[in-house]
Amino acid sequence: MTAALLNELRAIAGDAHVLTDPDLRASYETDWTRRYQGRALCVVRPGSTEEVSRVVRACAAAGAAVVPQGGNTGLVGGSVPRGREVVLSLRRLATIGDFDTVSGEVTAGAGVTLSSLQQHIREGGWAFGVDLASRDSATIGGMVATNAGGIRVIRYGAMRRQVLGFEAVLADGGIVRRMPGLVKDNTGYDLGQLLAGSEGTLAILTAVRVRLVPQLERRTVALLGVRELAGALEVVAAVRGELPSLEAAEAFFPEGVELVCRHAGIGLPFATHPGCYVLVECAGRRDESAELAEVLGGCAAVENSAMASDAAGRARLWAYRERHTEAINAEGIPHKLDVTLPLARLAEFEARVRGTIAAAVAGARPILFGHAGDGNLHVNILGLDPDDDRADDAVFRLVAELGGSISAEHGVGIAKLPWIGLTRSAEDLAAMRAIKKALDPRGMLNPGVIFPLE
Ligand code: FAD
Ligand code: MLT
Ligand code: ZN
Repeated sequence: MTAALLNELRAIAGDAHVLTDPDLRASYETDWTRRYQGRALCVVRPGSTEEVSRVVRACAAAGAAVVPQGGNTGLVGGSVPRGREVVLSLRRLATIGDFDTVSGEVTAGAGVTLSSLQQHIREGGWAFGVDLASRDSATIGGMVATNAGGIRVIRYGAMRRQVLGFEAVLADGGIVRRMPGLVKDNTGYDLGQLLAGSEGTLAILTAVRVRLVPQLERRTVALLGVRELAGALEVVAAVRGELPSLEAAEAFFPEGVELVCRHAGIGLPFATHPGCYVLVECAGRRDESAELAEVLGGCAAVENSAMASDAAGRARLWAYRERHTEAINAEGIPHKLDVTLPLARLAEFEARVRGTIAAAVAGARPILFGHAGDGNLHVNILGLDPDDDRADDAVFRLVAELGGSISAEHGVGIAKLPWIGLTRSAEDLAAMRAIKKALDPRGMLNPGVIFPLE
């Protein structure tokens, strides 16, 4: 059966695009953090939607499961194989199509990376509402599949809000296309929104039509020191209330800044560490740095500040925040717990979570950072065995106790599957299972992700 399937996949995608050699498969079989890895039957790299459809039909006929994969930057283990599945890489679907400069919409193949989309639309005066540090590898298909968030959610929403149309291959190989170019279209269920955040478990996205936002060149970034997270949230609330141009509001702590400075070889932002760092960015058609300075001047919580409006200065300040992920990864294999709390409970969570982790596993090393404006903290923990989930368990229970959710923007994948019942009711889970069963009756699309293997 295996040999027959491999031959069929070669006939569909071409010999060069069916990878069976372990060295060639390797980068598709391990996730970005190195915490999750598995063996694939093969990696297949179809070059068109029709080829994706034929690949899925062939796998269905052979009873082989499929793991869709984009840039493999996902952080919950959902993009890598777990037990001899076919990894279906969408990266060759990298064409950027119809670009409507009047309405600000573009159609991107699922394999288009965020940075190539950003470059493509820049000349027309447009930008994309979602931005992530993984922009050079993360694909538009993967970003919709995870409903990725990133640093601009406070202004433009997460990936789901950018989706205007889609093309996807269903578990039986059928192709659904909804690329209407219409602002309004209430004709039945909104399948595109259902696929956003479905993590490859309901269908395989092959193209997406996305909305664009105006390119705003006049930007000001302020990096501030405050005593504690509560002060950071006060700053964010003040800026949010006064300046609609607020585009990012991030928080991080000395533990992460130390790591970033060491890893990147840069100096500390201020002479001494504050208790908490907050970074805000405003963007508009005109320079609003004076207005931002005025609002910040009225914030009693601010102890240190640095501002920049030129590109190099802004990048220098952003580096302290954006380089957290790579600095942590360079230090070891982290457990990455991306959680969200009601904003009113975020400071309490942050004040308790380090103690919770220490009580669960002595010597575990937490590093927190995240999207303060969204109530979203990334609790990274170093010093744990990849399979030791005692600290994960303790953190997720604290999140549930405080009314939060175990996944803010990274998804459930396989990393959070055992805890999904903490923040979703039995009825809710049953409804989701019914949808999965209806669209993928044989459970061939990304089995083991979101729901346990049956
Ligand atoms: P992959 O990792 O390949 O896949 C992710 C999931 O989507 C898997 O379950 C996979 O099966 C499924 N999938 C992929 N493509 C398709 C498709 N075409 N059809 C159906 N299913 C598919 N995430 C954030 O939300 N915010 C951030 O700020 C952020 N920053 C990051 C920074 C760094 C340095 C890194 C490494 C990651 C970051 N991420 C962030 C996580 C990651 O980049 C996002 O989850 C991204 O959306 C994944 O895209 P991808 O193409 O790499 O998908
Ligand atoms: C981020 O906000 O930088 C990302 O979500 C990546 C991470 O959590 O490491
Ligand atoms: Zn994030």
